[in-house]
Amino acid sequence: MFGMKRITILISCISVAVLCIPACSGRQPKQETRQPVDYIKAIPGPSDPVPVAIAKKGEVLIGYSDCYTCHKEDQRSVGPAFKDIAKRYPVNQAYIEYLAKKIIQGGSGSWGNAVMTPHAQLSFDDVEIMVSYILSLRE
Ligand code: HEC
Repeated sequence: MFGMKRITILISCISVAVLCIPACSGRQPKQETRQPVDYIKAIPGPSDPVPVAIAKKGEVLIGYSDCYTCHKEDQRSVGPAFKDIAKRYPVNQAYIEYLAKKIIQGGSGSWGNAVMTPHAQLSFDDVEIMVSYILSLRE
């Protein structure tokens, strides 16, 4: 009698396990392929035009630095797309300085967990010109 009971318990355990496996695996979160909607939070504010000569110089300076190893113009890579950065920040001196400081010091948290390496070897003036180019990509 006792043996029968144990077998019954054993069978019910197995069936619970068998039923649970597909149910649990079906509950796994799906891989997120689309960017979350709040990825770009545009900061409101007036924008100044970026002089063409400055934008061109910034593009050249960026080409000579390591920026394109982590950034693309149109697409998110390790870092945000330059066009997405341009969508978020209005073009004015305060944001240009903020972003220049961020590039020189490096860091993370504004766009996700990926970390931008510091660029202490670059001059503040050059980095401001790079930022002006990036922000000039605003459409
Ligand atoms: C090692 C990879 C890497 C390199 C190299 C790199 N970046 Fe970044 N960059 C990132 C990441 C990651 C972020 C997002 C940081 C965050 O979420 O705060 C970022 C963010 C930025 C931002 C936006 C900052 C903010 O707070 O919104 C600017 C502007 C930028 N990078 C410009 C540059 C420029 C210009 C260079 C070249 C001098 C450069 N990056 C080189 C990875 C990199």
